[in-house]
Amino acid sequence: MSNKSEKNVAMENIVSLAKRRGFIYPGSDVYGGLSGTWDYGPLGVALKRNIMQLWWKMFVDDRDDMYGVDAAILMNQKVWQASGHVDTFVDPLCEDTVNHRRFRTDHILKDNGINADGLTMGQMDALIEEKGIKSPDGNLLSKSRTFNMMFETYIGSNATVGLESAKERLLTLKKKQDEQGIDFKEAFEELRAAMTTFIEGQASSTVYLRPETAQGIFTNYKNVVDNFYPDLPFGLAQQGKAFRNEISPRDFIFRSREFEQMEIEYFVDPDKWQESFDTLLADVHAFLEALGLPQDHVHELEVPEADRAHYSKRTIDIEYDFPIGKEELLGIAYRTDFDLMNIQNNSGKSMEYTIKGTNTKFVPHVIEPSFGVERAVMAVLSAAYTEDEVNGEKRIVMKFPEHLAPVKYCVSPLLKNKPELVAKAREVYQILKKKHGNVMWDDNGNIGKRYRRQDEIGTPYCVVVDFDSLENNDVTIRDRDTTEQKRVPIAEL
Ligand code: GAP
Repeated sequence: MSNKSEKNVAMENIVSLAKRRGFIYPGSDVYGGLSGTWDYGPLGVALKRNIMQLWWKMFVDDRDDMYGVDAAILMNQKVWQASGHVDTFVDPLCEDTVNHRRFRTDHILKDNGINADGLTMGQMDALIEEKGIKSPDGNLLSKSRTFNMMFETYIGSNATVGLESAKERLLTLKKKQDEQGIDFKEAFEELRAAMTTFIEGQASSTVYLRPETAQGIFTNYKNVVDNFYPDLPFGLAQQGKAFRNEISPRDFIFRSREFEQMEIEYFVDPDKWQESFDTLLADVHAFLEALGLPQDHVHELEVPEADRAHYSKRTIDIEYDFPIGKEELLGIAYRTDFDLMNIQNNSGKSMEYTIKGTNTKFVPHVIEPSFGVERAVMAVLSAAYTEDEVNGEKRIVMKFPEHLAPVKYCVSPLLKNKPELVAKAREVYQILKKKHGNVMWDDNGNIGKRYRRQDEIGTPYCVVVDFDSLENNDVTIRDRDTTEQKRVPIAEL
């Protein structure tokens, strides 16, 4: 066997394999898709869950200082007013002045080789003008404006009732005018009343799909302290969906409108934040290693003040060499007491923590490691994707670490038309299925083709039952990475 490895992975190869082999499909594909949304197929959901469970194990189950929560996605609108998201969770948006397609201004600059990190909207616009940068369709671009990325919706019936009652008022008014002619003063008053009913209905019932899971943690900080009274430092962890109305979702699952986060808010004594920041950063690296990401693809970026989120005094972005380039995989931020103080000020409830056995009280500060699940999935897919040659034949093999592989074993009878082989293979399949859960049965085509199929989905071991198995009660196990085969007694599987 010659074994040549090709590590320059093209994004299209991964996207195509992900769809072809049941990892990730474009969302709502059957109806022409919905931009920025992706669906996980049977293998994708297994991979994603393995990643999320590993995270939960390493950051929650294996530790004494972490507590899990699972907060509602819909939260009181005051949460997002207090957190600053209503006012500041914005991206710069510019528009093609001819066809009105919209773009993120910093992305337009990036696509033209200009790094817009730290630039104000005015500075970005000035650069676009100075360099004569046009829209991707070759037209002039408008000046930028801010665009809030939160998805807004309405809870309960107020908004709809408001709209219906406004419509009713207008219809009555129209009828009256048709019959009696226009009384402008009355029409104006009616219109104003209709608009007020409508706007008030909407305003009182506005909710946002959460753009980060973090706020669901902060709003439960007090509950957990009251119930468990953990020693400082301690952390609350949450995994779950987040939604952002990205102006231009792109690069496969890297920038989606619906995605998952795995976040920790780690509450610390303000004087000791640096210590916890360093420890958590080391824990983050240990997790990335457990994901099987090559260490030389992982980079730390100390985010300069001008580029940090409004709440952060220090942020390190962990960047990864994705096939699309070096981009943010996750971030770790020192959020100070920004969030707890906001909650305290806006809710009137004390967020102070009392050190056990003392009268010392303070509002803890927070270190936040924030992971995006989709970016972790994309990093794992791209790290695993390998093209090599086996016996002169090209193969694609997904070299997932064994603990992340969606399918652990594939079991086959050597020939599917020999009932005695099939029966024995079924026995082996059941044994492995009981032990490992995710085991696949494959009796299609010849053995070589089955191996290729399993290589493509990253199954670490293929087990084949042949005629010798009937005599010796053993099987052949083939290793995905080395393609070596050895015989193993069934009892030792
Ligand atoms: N609570 C802090 C926070 O949400 P963030 O940097 O905005 O910080 C954290 O997001 C992580 O969430 C990012 O590092 C990234 O992994 C992921 N993420 C953010 N926006 C995303 C998007 N549109 N699609 C996929 N993942 C995203």
